[in-house]
Amino acid sequence: MSTLREATELRVLIRSAAAGDDAVAEAISRLGPARVAATLVDEMVSRADLGEVGPLPGPVTVRFDLDFDGRTLAHSVSFKEGRVRHGDAGPDAARPVLVELELVALARAVFGGPMAPHALCRRIDWGDVDDPREFMVGVAAAPVVQRLLRGAAGEPARLDELALVNGSDKWGPHFYTPIYERHFAPLREQELTIVELGIGGYAHPGSGGGSLRMWKRYFPRALVYGVDMFDKSAAAEQRVFPIQGDLSDPDFVGGLAGRLGPLDIVIDDGSHACADVILAFHALFPALRPGGLYVIEDLQTSYWPSYGGNATNLHDASTSMGFLKQLLDGLNYEEHDGAGSSRPTRFDSMLVGAHFYHNIAVLEKGRNADGPMPGFVRQRPVTQVGRADRREVTA
Ligand SMILES: C[S@@+](CC[C@H](N)C(=O)[O-])C[C@H]1O[C@@H](n2cnc3c(N)ncnc32)[C@H](O)[C@@H]1O
Repeated sequence: MSTLREATELRVLIRSAAAGDDAVAEAISRLGPARVAATLVDEMVSRADLGEVGPLPGPVTVRFDLDFDGRTLAHSVSFKEGRVRHGDAGPDAARPVLVELELVALARAVFGGPMAPHALCRRIDWGDVDDPREFMVGVAAAPVVQRLLRGAAGEPARLDELALVNGSDKWGPHFYTPIYERHFAPLREQELTIVELGIGGYAHPGSGGGSLRMWKRYFPRALVYGVDMFDKSAAAEQRVFPIQGDLSDPDFVGGLAGRLGPLDIVIDDGSHACADVILAFHALFPALRPGGLYVIEDLQTSYWPSYGGNATNLHDASTSMGFLKQLLDGLNYEEHDGAGSSRPTRFDSMLVGAHFYHNIAVLEKGRNADGPMPGFVRQRPVTQVGRADRREVTA
């Protein structure tokens, strides 16, 4: 299935899950119950941290019996030697544990956001608990089942823990996750489109994607795109779409926004070369929706000549920090009197906030057009405005 079609179908399901039972039922009928069942179980698997389960005595299969419109759809997921796959565990599989749920309720719990009701698990059949052999099968499967169901219970995970679990250096080598948490937490349950420049792993084909997995988990209703110059198709997952391209190529970068549509969050963790940082900002900041956030990591390169940086002239506009510092005056462009000023620049009316931390900046998109302060306040300090002026103002 094409990326666009897959992304569109996921969007339909995610949006319907917040809208109510009837909207979900309609979306399930449109997308196909079997496809929706597979999508929801896959999502629960990705939220289950099954790597935390210790060694198991043998393969475990969990079969979800999902009721929809008078039918029951069965979707199995098996866990064997640390690997998860959809379908049965094979000939040596023990009897599956059965988990019965309503498909609509499950969709609402997985993708509906915090206000949606949790999926009520109708029944778990652990097997014949009076038979010691079957009982032990249930005991072995319990940690897997518990973790799978947690994915439908709206369990919030902290970003630094998710960085560790998913192998992202945003916590540890860097200490970015508390900063991300500060800015991203209010957006967490929203339906979002996120793009991260730089997937990780450089030329190693099977390596990278830790932060994309982290974002997928932190934002349960988001589609997450990653861009890298190397083929990172191995990082593809449900709701995670790697794109290959060179972020120093103006044609490629210029076409990204049209390809991905309006964006909610952009994270630049790519080459960190100053020219690439500025090129991407020009192309992608305007593509953010109002309220969107643009994050630039590793701004230390702004001072390193090998990355196009400059530690001697801190206002050099060809460096990442020099460029960003110029934008700051644009926050107040309506107060510049105009004489000799080249403002407003392209970004002045769309930048509404800027937050700078050690090596990382967060820029907020919006509509910066509140209007200037009244003219009489500009002409002299308010402390010098005489009584007569004040009477005039209040009259
Ligand atoms: C620091 S890693 C990204 C790490 C990842 N965001 C994470 O947090 O796990 C930087 C990535 O940017 C990619 N990259 C470097 N220069 C690039 C360019 N010009 N175009 C596209 N990708 C580039 C590298 O291949 C590398 O995988």
